[in-house]
Amino acid sequence: MTPQEALSLRRQYLMPCLNYFYRDPPLFVRGRMQYLWDGAGKKYLDFFAGVSVMNCGHSNPFILDRVKAQLDELQHLTNVYLTEPVLQLALRLAEVLPGNLKRSFFCMSGSEANEGALLLARIATGRRKFIARRGGLHGRTRLSMAVTGIPMWRADPFFPPPPASPAGPVEDVYFADTPQEIAAILAGDQDVAAFICEPIQGNGGIIPSPPGYFAEVLPLLRKHGVLLIADEVQSGFARTGRMFASEHYGLVPDIMTLSKALGNGIPIAAFCTTDAIAETFTRPSASTLGGNPVSCAAALGALDYLRDQNLCARSQALGDRLLDGLRRLKNRFPVIREVRGLGLMAGAELADPDTGAPLPGRTDFVLEELLKRGVILGKNGLARNVLAFQPPLVITDEDLDFLLGALEEVFNLDFSEAR
Ligand SMILES: Cc1ncc(COP(=O)(O)O)c(C=O)c1O
Repeated sequence: MTPQEALSLRRQYLMPCLNYFYRDPPLFVRGRMQYLWDGAGKKYLDFFAGVSVMNCGHSNPFILDRVKAQLDELQHLTNVYLTEPVLQLALRLAEVLPGNLKRSFFCMSGSEANEGALLLARIATGRRKFIARRGGLHGRTRLSMAVTGIPMWRADPFFPPPPASPAGPVEDVYFADTPQEIAAILAGDQDVAAFICEPIQGNGGIIPSPPGYFAEVLPLLRKHGVLLIADEVQSGFARTGRMFASEHYGLVPDIMTLSKALGNGIPIAAFCTTDAIAETFTRPSASTLGGNPVSCAAALGALDYLRDQNLCARSQALGDRLLDGLRRLKNRFPVIREVRGLGLMAGAELADPDTGAPLPGRTDFVLEELLKRGVILGKNGLARNVLAFQPPLVITDEDLDFLLGALEEVFNLDFSEAR
């Protein structure tokens, strides 16, 4: 298939809501660790990892051996039967999760994990409403979309954009960021079950929570009996230099949601909580494919690989080098308004140096020019003007130098002429 044929089939047989990057997108046919190849044999350095999924690298042979062995042995039964891998995985997660989070419910996607976490918060508290942050992304199901604070991802025509000030709730959800806003909501409404947030926002533009943020917010929530749900779907599993981004803040949430890198590309997700909260979830629930042996084998393989290869430390060290390099570029190219991130989850926001206006066109231009040079980069942010650096954590110093060299070349190009 040529890329043109693929695009044509996509237009005819997939839904138009699916966007794609690049004017002439390559058709990828192969991946190995931090590299991808298109159908014409061109090699790319992947700096987006399928949106923070392939933390251990594409088609990682260590993990795939585990998956293949499990496929040969037992593939699927569902959770009304006893199987072993799901229990081994629950045990391993209990070891690596912060604090006393130790009970897991396994499902298939980040949306499903957040939907379940929000449901659990309602069951555990007997309350109905939620507080979420502007710029957060939590999913495409009923509750997970209702708490999503990025207007473009609120596809339901009956969901208005989140209000700029914490007016009344929209579909049972208040949007608030500062501890003061949260305190004001909680003072006036006793029906709030949980506050949900990404400790470092991903799709909203790689925005770490400010230092000390949770030290202020958590006591407020505790005082009012409100649970804290940390969405670590994008930031988990060594992405930020720690196993979970919450650890940067000393945060132990009441419920944590996981997906993406948990299975390193094999679908799996979970919401995890304490014994006390888990014990309230006695109404029947299930997920047909949740905790299936193959997905669990992939996750166990990924957890072993992260540990054995010391990928937290690697993500921290390479992330520091990446942020240094990006800040050096920022000093030379004023179009880079801000560089931010934790570990190998970094963002560079592009804006007009005079007016501060977001520059989504320039962002696309950088992506296109990097593609020509064999580098795949992501983009996000509310105005789609943030370059997103989230490579497999197995990249080398040489890969990083290659990326920074290519970026420098691209920022040196005359943007208006190139258009
Ligand atoms: C932080 C966060 N939560 C939830 C989701 C939704 O996950 P999924 O696409 O697996 O449903 C995403 C997806 O990008 C995400 O980044």
